[in-house]
Amino acid sequence: MIRQQLRRGLNYARQTVVGRPALPVMTRLIRGDQRASTFFAAIEFVNYEQVPGDIVEFGVFTGISLALLAQGHRFDDKGMARRVAGFDSFDGLPPSAEEHARWREGACQTNHAWHPLAAPGARVTPEMTRELFAACGLPAPELHVGLFDQTVPPVVPATYSAVAVVHIDCDLYESTQSVLTGIAPALVVMQARTLVRTLSDTEQDPLKLLERINARLAEDMVAGRFVTMFLGFLSPEGFLEWSSGGHGPVLFRRRRGQAIESLDNKVADEMQSRMLIDTSRQLERGTKWFLRSRRLVDDMVVNITKELEDLISMSQHLSVVGGFQGDHGEFYAQDEDDHRPVKVRYTPDSAPDDPERRVRLLSD
Ligand SMILES: C[S@@+](CC[C@H](N)C(=O)[O-])C[C@H]1O[C@@H](n2cnc3c(N)ncnc32)[C@H](O)[C@@H]1O
Repeated sequence: MIRQQLRRGLNYARQTVVGRPALPVMTRLIRGDQRASTFFAAIEFVNYEQVPGDIVEFGVFTGISLALLAQGHRFDDKGMARRVAGFDSFDGLPPSAEEHARWREGACQTNHAWHPLAAPGARVTPEMTRELFAACGLPAPELHVGLFDQTVPPVVPATYSAVAVVHIDCDLYESTQSVLTGIAPALVVMQARTLVRTLSDTEQDPLKLLERINARLAEDMVAGRFVTMFLGFLSPEGFLEWSSGGHGPVLFRRRRGQAIESLDNKVADEMQSRMLIDTSRQLERGTKWFLRSRRLVDDMVVNITKELEDLISMSQHLSVVGGFQGDHGEFYAQDEDDHRPVKVRYTPDSAPDDPERRVRLLSD
């Protein structure tokens, strides 16, 4: 008790003479930034849920939010290895077509906010962020210097193939659009990997698993995008069960330093012959069943008749009349209202695009 009072007294005396001891830099960052708890919660979530991918920020400025994100991961990484990467021109805001209520071109080129190391008005540089990380005892972040349009495409998805947490803080519509376009491939890959992790609990067949993931991704994917995937389950005995939804050949090495082999065409000749015989037997059985199935043939006839009736009745309501002319594969039509002839190219390989004309063509 006496010792405790003595210590308090000494502390008070020291603070009065030399001032309060400085708090660690990270503690000051956390206390001074209201977003800290949100960043920590986001990182805790992806670590807890084992969401694969890196932590990536667009708009670094003096490095405070990036350092807080890195700290969130350091608190409890749950065994998830993640890189911390930041993208910024470090040259202030680029021009924008739409004037921002507050931020103008060139803003953020110098420090305008509280910072534990940088003075107000100091030129913002990548080094400023690196020094902040060093002062917090954090591993150096990977910084990509330049405009997003130029820095993102070369490294996403080549270097950052999956991202677990993305912090977009770049003030402008155009910049945000560049980021979202640039990281789309990484988000898709991350979605595919997350599906593998989730579904492999209940599905152990790699082919069936890829089929389920494919069906799911096909629903979400925008036109023109695709993912190539390889999925393999390696047993403790060294037996690899795999399926590939990508370009072959799939290459592998049994051990470091050994020759590279191809997973394709590794099926033994004897096994390949057995598979071929089996496949043709199944095909033959299927064909016989198809041909002998009386009911199936009946149904098809009924279906075709029904379709024909629909086509004929639809053709009576068409606004376009006309028919084939000559043997050049050209289809002439005439607009019913102003009798303007319309010429539509028709070749055996290509039908007219207009659905009405296609229907007319079929019913004639
Ligand atoms: C609001 S600051 C970021 C603040 C930082 N996240 C923090 O909280 O500490 C916005 C940053 O985005 C960067 N920026 C905006 N548009 C950019 C673009 N198209 N390319 C590169 N950097 C951009 C600016 O240079 C600026 O440093």
